[in-house]
Amino acid sequence: MYVCLCKGVTDTQIRDAVTDGACSMRDLRERLDVATQCGKCGRECKSIINEYRQSA
Ligand code: FES
Repeated sequence: MYVCLCKGVTDTQIRDAVTDGACSMRDLRERLDVATQCGKCGRECKSIINEYRQSA
């Protein structure tokens, strides 16, 4: 499922990046370019990071 439509980034790509060590929006932005256009996906990206933090 696409989380960031502007950049065509899926939730799987975001999860993979988080598993691989991305632990902030800044990391995700650098790696995947998410939330760099309209910013609408920012909240969803953050909640994926938080989900992972809680389950780690
Ligand atoms: Fe991610 Fe627009 S949906 S920047």
